[in-house]
Amino acid sequence: MAERKSIAATVTYRETGASDRAPVRALQAAVYDSAIAGICEALISSPAETLSLVAELDGQIIGHILLTPVAGPERALALAPHAILPAWRDMQIGTELVRNALKLARERGWRSVFVFGQPDYYGRFGFKSRTANCADVSWQGPRFLAIELEQGALARWSGPLDYPEAYLAVAKALY
Ligand SMILES: CC(C)(COP(=O)(O)OP(=O)(O)OC[C@H]1O[C@@H](n2cnc3c(N)ncnc32)[C@H](O)[C@@H]1OP(=O)(O)O)[C@@H](O)C(=O)NCCC(=O)NCCS
Repeated sequence: MAERKSIAATVTYRETGASDRAPVRALQAAVYDSAIAGICEALISSPAETLSLVAELDGQIIGHILLTPVAGPERALALAPHAILPAWRDMQIGTELVRNALKLARERGWRSVFVFGQPDYYGRFGFKSRTANCADVSWQGPRFLAIELEQGALARWSGPLDYPEAYLAVAKALY
């Protein structure tokens, strides 16, 4: 187990570049399907300030995470999809991808991030269901989570989250 986990430290976590387009699409198609892969590609190349990071090992893209701006609270992002190729799971690579993505988001001035996911998993980064209660979305519930990147970012806000159309298509397929 220790050996599996130490692999995560040898992986490079970096922002997606133009040459990653095809491998990221292939990865998302392998983990989800080609429709989601296509929507991801559209979101990454959209003019919005999308944050897209890959996990790369020996030149191979083995993980990908996408954070897309949502309108509602000031400077908020939605996290999805987050995918690691099956052969590389349970090695802390997904964890490192999230950590790197949240660090970059903070550096870029983003104030909060929403995700629909497993509370056990995303809880380790500080995502909480009660932090997301302020958002009026149809998938509200115990798996709808949020984290404040800046303390108090969501404290005085409540209302609907306005997701880009393409993101909603991903959410519909994932949620
Ligand atoms: C979810 C996913 C991104 C996690 O990546 P990973 O690199 O395998 O995860 P890590 O190695 O960082 O973390 C492993 C830990 O998470 C736990 N874990 C993994 N998937 C989990 C899940 N779906 N629910 C709860 N816990 C989970 C493991 O038990 C392990 O726990 P431990 O650290 O206490 O031993 C990956 O499994 C994946 O791509 N899944 C398919 C797509 C998906 O479900 N994406 C998330 C929704 S957007």
